[in-house]
Amino acid sequence: MTLYYILKEFKFTSLVIHMKKDMGKIIFIEQNGAEHPVEIDQGNSLMELALYNAVPGIDADCGGGCACGTCHVIIEDKWFKQSGKILETESQMLDMTPERETTSRLSCQIKVTDAMDGMKVRLPEFQM
Ligand code: FES
Repeated sequence: MTLYYILKEFKFTSLVIHMKKDMGKIIFIEQNGAEHPVEIDQGNSLMELALYNAVPGIDADCGGGCACGTCHVIIEDKWFKQSGKILETESQMLDMTPERETTSRLSCQIKVTDAMDGMKVRLPEFQM
């Protein structure tokens, strides 16, 4: 008996619905073009999503405190608005990253939502 049937049998319907739902994906792209599609886990930060799925190139030395700049990512142009507002602290930290681009973000400052299905995120060659 699979977990799905056990949950259904005991009427954990919301869990069953969650399990059956086709999860969207965010695609992390390394400098060499290697793609890492990762299932969206709403509520986590983009940095946490990368770490939990062993995406290479995100160091996240400060653990999400917006204090190290080692979670730098470059959002694909058409998705940039979707990534949310950049606060002054984040912008100052991004100014210190050697590869800042117009769509650069610190992934620890981006909350993942289901609306990000298909979003592409490039990783810089180096973190700070
Ligand atoms: S994890 Fe340190 S700034 Fe994002």
